[in-house]
Amino acid sequence: MTSDPPRVRRHLARLSGYAPVVPLAERARIAGLEPEDCLKLDANENPYGMHPRVREALAQALSDPGFGSIYPDPNQASLRQALSRYTGLDPSMILAGAGADELLDLALRALLPPGGAVVTCSPGFGMYPFLADINELRLIDVPRDERFMLRDDMLLRAAETSGRDAVVVLTSPNNPSGDMIPRELLLALLNRGATVMLDEAYIEFAGMDASAKDLLTEFPRLIVMRTFSKWAGIAGLRLGYALANPNLVTDLIKVKQPYNVNQAAEIAGIAAIDNAAEIGAQIDTIRDTRDQLFEALRNVEGLTPLPSRANFILIRVDPNVGTGRELHDRLAAVGVFTRTYSDPLLTSYLRISVPRADQLDTLIQRIGAVL
Ligand SMILES: Cc1ncc(COP(=O)(O)O)c(C=O)c1O
Repeated sequence: MTSDPPRVRRHLARLSGYAPVVPLAERARIAGLEPEDCLKLDANENPYGMHPRVREALAQALSDPGFGSIYPDPNQASLRQALSRYTGLDPSMILAGAGADELLDLALRALLPPGGAVVTCSPGFGMYPFLADINELRLIDVPRDERFMLRDDMLLRAAETSGRDAVVVLTSPNNPSGDMIPRELLLALLNRGATVMLDEAYIEFAGMDASAKDLLTEFPRLIVMRTFSKWAGIAGLRLGYALANPNLVTDLIKVKQPYNVNQAAEIAGIAAIDNAAEIGAQIDTIRDTRDQLFEALRNVEGLTPLPSRANFILIRVDPNVGTGRELHDRLAAVGVFTRTYSDPLLTSYLRISVPRADQLDTLIQRIGAVL
């Protein structure tokens, strides 16, 4: 008999793990400030929080004595119906999950055997390399250039040479650079038979007409990932969805965790869709605030904001000011929480989420104070 605990598989033991955002209370405590005096601009959540109508729907559900005590619908019928209204696609092309993260994991695991390839273009969302690691997939990176432009030819070549067991994962608008994936590039990949997972987590901030979902019918190898975390202000409830070919959706339903979307997320998601017009007014305000923040940052010596179609802005920090990490730390000390990266291409950069309109002056003032 041995008293050693069981070991995780060797490839998992080697991993350093995903670097998630530190909770607000913890960051505030480190800064010696009250959470309400801080600006949490590190995870691109909706700064207005959950819409009151969504909160009402949840409160009403909670008053039902049966709430939460029975399993949610494994087939997600009402939610997929609501998502069908929201996307204009048939429910057979829709699958919901506990955040886009769960669906990215599910789809990669279901589509690729160990040793299969995930083709990405760094800098990007840290979840993709993490998922490649935990699922024993090869990460084939086609890095963007120093201006964050995609290298189209290299990407097309990588997609062609990475074999049949490969998925190209692209993000539009991209996190953290904020730009869109050009439609011609997407079409070139799809026309060559690539399987493309297009992550549209921030599409509401770019405008829904910028979505590539209209290509789903013609291209069965396209999968579009979406989330309620960013536009709908319910990141904490975990709700995302995939749009894909009905046959793939059927297969994914068979292998997903049966009760992957909890009842609260389901109710909040349907309420968000029912009140999409009201939440749309918030999105318009966030876009306006983003454009004002961009202009304000352009006037700050030592900072260069990159144009963004999302609800965040990537900022280049002049070496005279310091590295992105140094500015991040100075801002954290005055209660402005932003995001930095370990990617060498991003040493001089900082990502900042768009705050509420009424927080903009405070933000600019605190940035000015630490420069
Ligand atoms: C590009 C991208 N995709 C997906 C997600 C995660 O979405 P969810 O909260 O639905 O898991 C994020 C969150 O930061 C993201 O930036």
